[in-house]
Amino acid sequence: MTHPVLPTAELGTGGPLVGVQGLGCMGMSEFYGPTDSDEALATLGAALEAGVTLFDTADGYAFGRNEEFIGPFVRANRDKVVLATKFALVRKEEDPGYRGISNDPAYIRAAVDASLRRLGVDEIDLYYMHRRDPAVPLADSIGTMAELVEAGKVRHLGLSEVTGAELREAHAIHPIAALQSEWSVFARDVERTAVPAAAELGVAFVPYSPLGRGFLTGAFQDANHLGADDVRRTQPRFTGDNAAANAGLLAPLREIAAARGVTLAQVALAWVHQRAEVHGLTVVPIPGTRKRGRLAENTAAAALRLTAEELALLEPISGQVRGGRYADMNFTQVGRE
Ligand SMILES: NC(=O)c1ccc[n+]([C@@H]2O[C@H](COP(=O)([O-])OP(=O)(O)OC[C@H]3O[C@@H](n4cnc5c(N)ncnc54)[C@H](OP(=O)(O)O)[C@@H]3O)[C@@H](O)[C@H]2O)c1
Repeated sequence: MTHPVLPTAELGTGGPLVGVQGLGCMGMSEFYGPTDSDEALATLGAALEAGVTLFDTADGYAFGRNEEFIGPFVRANRDKVVLATKFALVRKEEDPGYRGISNDPAYIRAAVDASLRRLGVDEIDLYYMHRRDPAVPLADSIGTMAELVEAGKVRHLGLSEVTGAELREAHAIHPIAALQSEWSVFARDVERTAVPAAAELGVAFVPYSPLGRGFLTGAFQDANHLGADDVRRTQPRFTGDNAAANAGLLAPLREIAAARGVTLAQVALAWVHQRAEVHGLTVVPIPGTRKRGRLAENTAAAALRLTAEELALLEPISGQVRGGRYADMNFTQVGRE
């Protein structure tokens, strides 16, 4: 399957026009094992050629080094790239597993300047709050983000892993272009409140980990095959008995992929697009890859349409998945819904 150039979509009402599939850049610097930097850079260029324009990073990825890694590419293609980055994850290099969250105004002001410096740009196209700290009123944190728009440091605002109620509250303070949360055949929590709220408000949805962090591609064997510092070793869906049980859930994807002559990854990506149609909202999934071949495979999925029968085969899967998305689910919107 090939698809020369991706179609485009508006990223939220009044938001930028982007290719209907973005690129997650996180794995280029951390979390999913060793990276070939030359191949990762070539993948960024190939993505742009294929019509991918939304490039996703965060200040927390590799302690800022992911922003530094994509910076030269972004600067060289500044007029074509829609650059998304995030603040709020507080990390400690001496304790890589540590995760804190800060939504404090002073923290946000310092974080945006640090991201701009690492990226080497004057303005961030889409600035997300990576995680919500319920201890800080949204009026304070969204108000501060809105000041960044006024100051010309940021063009559009986004949120990640918020509930539908939080999205509504934030959007009333300042327009939110995009909500980025995990959404895939394996992870459908967001369909409870976040997706309906985004649909109602005209906020675009940016599904992260649309390939289930690689699980849905069928490539994952067991956690022992992962590098020692691969984050999936700590994630309940990939570990212990859960991994084998979850691998069994891929049978319908395999069946559809074989019948259609496509890959499991392509089936998983087509599912996200068609699920969004059911909910009546724009989606721009951001599968992460560091390899040109996979990039081509993933972008080609934009041309795949699953039949109603195929969608029905995939429907029961998420209800049978074993293990939470994160070891600490407080880190998601779920506990606040
Ligand atoms: N907001 C948040 O809290 C949050 C959380 C997680 C991720 N994200 C963002 O979302 C992006 C995507 O999520 P993700 O990277 O976690 O998960 P993903 O896109 O579901 O899966 C990425 C994994 O799948 C592999 N892969 C990609 N395409 C493949 C294909 N066609 N066949 C086989 N394997 C394939 C990648 O390996 P290779 O790289 O080796 O191809 C990588 O190991 C990230 O890069 C990041 O920007 C955001």
